[in-house]
Amino acid sequence: MLQARIIGTGACLPEKVVTNHDLEKIVDTSDKWVTERTGIKERRLATSEEAASDFSYKAARHALKAAGVKARDLDLILVGTVTPDSPFPSTGCVLQSMLGAKNAVGFDVSATCSGFLYTLSLADAYVRSGRYKKILVVGTDILSKFVDWEDRNTCVLFGDGAGAVVIEPTTKQKGIIDVVIGSDGRLGDMLYIPGGGSRIPASKESIRDGQHFIKMNGNEVFKVAVKTMERVSREILKKNNIDPGEVSIMVPHQANIRIIQAVAKRLKMPMENVVVNLDKYGNTSAATIPIALDEAVREGRIRDGDLILMAAFGGGLTWASALIRW
Ligand code: COA
Repeated sequence: MLQARIIGTGACLPEKVVTNHDLEKIVDTSDKWVTERTGIKERRLATSEEAASDFSYKAARHALKAAGVKARDLDLILVGTVTPDSPFPSTGCVLQSMLGAKNAVGFDVSATCSGFLYTLSLADAYVRSGRYKKILVVGTDILSKFVDWEDRNTCVLFGDGAGAVVIEPTTKQKGIIDVVIGSDGRLGDMLYIPGGGSRIPASKESIRDGQHFIKMNGNEVFKVAVKTMERVSREILKKNNIDPGEVSIMVPHQANIRIIQAVAKRLKMPMENVVVNLDKYGNTSAATIPIALDEAVREGRIRDGDLILMAAFGGGLTWASALIRW
């Protein structure tokens, strides 16, 4: 039976570092508050010239190099993002052109912070069906351009970046075991951007009213995030008859250290088996999981045969989990 396997990972983060102390000069906040409430110490932010495809391109190049795959051999490019360079063309198409992947088809998937795992589920299904073989899966978001830099409730949380993986079929008992995705559109207004689409198109009024900025009910999001990430982790483990104790390493969405600790505690997962890098990058939305995976792989934290659990949660609401035998 065909299974999909990750054969290379890559990531790219902006060079510009913005610390909590830097933010103290912009909004009424403190390094102490942000560190204690979120675990974030600094984040990387895109410059005014940089956009999602720039970081995606570099992350993709790293992943292709690690996989030993040429861009022209790709047959599919999937990009999980809610912050494309522009409404269209898709970042998948922009990336196809930048990479010179002329034999591929590219498109985007909108699932906020669950975007990488949603695209991974598509890649997995395409490989299993035999339709596509060499697939580039990218998670990227540049939320700094959609955050109100006068709103201390949101601006301290997010960072920019991209992560990528290359996937191909295998007949070995290794690779993606399963990906579970879910959504509940009734809870969309917990975390959303009201303006800039066809409902509230960009206008002088929409800009004046800050409709193009992220709106969030932080407290509610926090509670639902913990419950949902635990639930979707348990769901995928149960579905595949795997005990939480068998998991070698967990790569969770990086939104808040307290969310990650609460989920790990509920799953009885020791924190030393959980990948955490939000102190350096903040919440990079669809990019958190592939960036954390790439770091863990390059640091040698993930070894042959390890069982990896991934779990994400985001606006929509959306959620997802993945189980991978490395
Ligand atoms: N600096 C200082 N004070 C801040 C602040 C900041 N950056 N942001 C909010 N505050 C204030 C609030 O205004 C509030 O003040 P008040 O009591 O006078 O009204 C106080 O801190 C406590 O706010 P509260 O919302 O209760 O704090 P919290 O412990 O819930 O932490 C979040 C707030 C946003 C960090 C937390 O709720 C969270 O992480 N939620 C999830 C957000 C998220 O991950 N979103 C993305 C999901 S993919």
